[in-house]
Amino acid sequence: MRIGVLFGGRSAEHDVSVLSATNVMSALSPEAYDVVPIYVTREGRWLLSSFEAGVPAKPSSGTQLCLLAGGRGEVIAVSEEGISHPFPKLDILFPVLHGLHGEDGAVQGMAEVAGLPLAGCGILGSANALDKDIAKRLFNEAGIPSANSITIYLNSSPTFDELRQKLGLPVFIKPARQGSSVGVSKVSSEADYNSALAEGFRHDSKLIAEEFIQGREIECAVLEDEHGGLFVSRTGEIAPALSHGFYTYDAKYIDADGAALMVPADISNEIEDEVRALALRAFSALGCDGMARADFFLTADGRIFVNELNTIPGFTDISMYSKVMGASGVSYPEIIDRLVAHGIA
Ligand code: DAL
Ligand code: MG
Repeated sequence: MRIGVLFGGRSAEHDVSVLSATNVMSALSPEAYDVVPIYVTREGRWLLSSFEAGVPAKPSSGTQLCLLAGGRGEVIAVSEEGISHPFPKLDILFPVLHGLHGEDGAVQGMAEVAGLPLAGCGILGSANALDKDIAKRLFNEAGIPSANSITIYLNSSPTFDELRQKLGLPVFIKPARQGSSVGVSKVSSEADYNSALAEGFRHDSKLIAEEFIQGREIECAVLEDEHGGLFVSRTGEIAPALSHGFYTYDAKYIDADGAALMVPADISNEIEDEVRALALRAFSALGCDGMARADFFLTADGRIFVNELNTIPGFTDISMYSKVMGASGVSYPEIIDRLVAHGIA
């Protein structure tokens, strides 16, 4: 089975994707898979990479790969000199890309047009989950509790007073279509608000202002099998170090002590069942398939709010998806086998 693994990418989560892909490629058994690592440059070129001694190469030039529309996995390789070569067909594409142009349905659409099976979530679920504004509307419609929010566009930002009246303080200002907390600010004053808008708009033309939910961060994993059956994992908890204030990009990836992960989460069976049931409802409310990690807040009085779904969750060393699946008896290689089986079904 020839599996094209896409990593890197055009989004702000480029480096996170490289970490994720390192683990995914390490978990692909060489007996079962012929791995074709494809590095997506920050400009969006797909360059043939290699994976040696557990490290994926990040070439800045070399052979560029292009999917052939309707080619059922056919790929054209173009050398630096612009000469096309035949390239062995891929059986499946596994985008290990986070954020825009990778997790948002764009690459999923490309695979669809190319007639190439895809590991993970399809076009619609990916697009819905990546856009926090759209996801929230769908959660609301399905009666799934999520934090109250206001959508902010470049030309229509609410005043600080409006924000405070509707959402209380503090609030989070988040780019609508980013991940890993990139561009997210916690706002308690008008001055904070102005800089949060400036920071948010550096990353997206649409933001959401979100009510602060004081709660524990609980996550679980959803994985679909080739017959459409959905598996929901045990839950895990993330406790960001107090010094970071919230689960920031640095707490996630830079500071080794930025957060503690507890798997399984220390919550009652009842609450865990509720979280897992909500994860399934959220997965179908957004039209997801394949996989997603569902992130929740659990308040001290036992209320559960969905925060978001990540259709290509992090697979870094500190990432929750494989840990909660492991705690549920599904090993890393088994996750990938199931994703592939779902993709080619
Ligand atoms: N967006 C990051 C990779 C995550 O949710 O894990
Ligand atoms: Mg998240």
